Amino acid sequence: MQNNALILEDLKYIWHPCTQMHDHLEKIPLIPIERANGMYLYDFDGNKYLDCISSWWVNIFGHSHPYINQKLKEQIDKLEHIIFAGFTHKPIIELSSRLINLLDSKLSKCFYADNGSSAIEVALKMAYASCVYQGKKGNKFLSLENAYHGETIGALSVGDVGIYKEVYEPILLQTLKVKEPKGEDFEESLSSLREIIKSHKDEIVAFILEPLIQCAGNMNMYSANFVYEATKLCQENGIYVIFDEIAVGFGRTGSMFAYEQCGVVPDFLCLSKGISGGYLPLSVVVVGEEIYNLFYAPYEEHRAFLHSHSYTGNALACACANAVLDLFSKEDVITNNKKTSEYIWESMQELRRFSFVKNMRICGMVFAFDLEGFDNVRKGLEVFNAGLKRGLLLRPLGNTIYLMPPYIITKEQISHIANTLKEILSTFA
Ligand SMILES: Cc1ncc(COP(=O)(O)O)c(C=O)c1O
Repeated sequence: MQNNALILEDLKYIWHPCTQMHDHLEKIPLIPIERANGMYLYDFDGNKYLDCISSWWVNIFGHSHPYINQKLKEQIDKLEHIIFAGFTHKPIIELSSRLINLLDSKLSKCFYADNGSSAIEVALKMAYASCVYQGKKGNKFLSLENAYHGETIGALSVGDVGIYKEVYEPILLQTLKVKEPKGEDFEESLSSLREIIKSHKDEIVAFILEPLIQCAGNMNMYSANFVYEATKLCQENGIYVIFDEIAVGFGRTGSMFAYEQCGVVPDFLCLSKGISGGYLPLSVVVVGEEIYNLFYAPYEEHRAFLHSHSYTGNALACACANAVLDLFSKEDVITNNKKTSEYIWESMQELRRFSFVKNMRICGMVFAFDLEGFDNVRKGLEVFNAGLKRGLLLRPLGNTIYLMPPYIITKEQISHIANTLKEILSTFA
């Protein structure tokens, strides 16, 4: 019963993120984890949990991966962290050159931060300053309804998931919102974008979007054609485009980066989460020479991009990121993921027998369906708790149940998830 003692000690001192702490009293158990390995988390009382969501979408190769562990251990005895202004180190130089070689040739310079929201702040600030340095007057950002870009003030402003931002509305940045596309249905969104551009063109700094999947927005999967058309439209009208690939970068949607499926290249590309395999916080905003050059000037012109975080460019995080890229080049992860994705899709089809399972969808290594027809808006919470009892770590988004597993998931584990979900959903029928 070590778990119970740890829970009491935790609740005495800690305020957890993205949590109504009141829920921990009865609705949601807090689970102390002793260790994690591969697909599993292990608690102190001998229970194990299959991580169906890559622990907030970060551990793309599972937990305690032997190769990433080894590379991290090698790095720790050489250099753990240094100030990244005026100094540099090998892991970050290697990482940057590898990223640039993986990306479209229009993207050529890496600016680092240490988490997803900070990368969004960087992109927003950089886009705004780029406009200022070109004498443009724009001061508004354009984003999609139902978007999620993080929870710092700038990131919240361009996001649209009510629960995170309601109370902060009065202190947020001014934004314009475009109706979100859904599936192949995007004409309405595109025409709303056209209308906004027509009447607000000169006020808009940048359009920010999560290409292909609005993840925290209940895994809303939408057409690459929308991303293509919307990006073209903005860029032709002198509006910067920011792709937030924080959740979908590094193979999640079926290509290394989601933009590759859309036939367009953004002006700013934000990456984080999977970049370090879920080991250490790291994020990067990648831009092209044109943007870089707007900030490149004699010191006296005060154009430097003065944005920094103490942990920017952490050498340990970069060593993990290099190990992650090694894993991508050692095996054909993208091709393997395609097969895994097909197997997930086939295995989950049986869930259609439940009339309340709606809108089943998949995009690469993200699978989702919605629970509809229940009065309880927290029905997903019941699935979460029932999953835990049966050894599954699911973390539904409202009543959207989804899988976003590490790429190392096996067929047996997928079948086990399908059977367990069947068992859980049959208790609702
Ligand atoms: C698309 C997207 N953007 C930004 C963020 C924010 O990243 P972080 O939680 O590291 O601040 C998230 C986090 O879930 C995300 O999914």
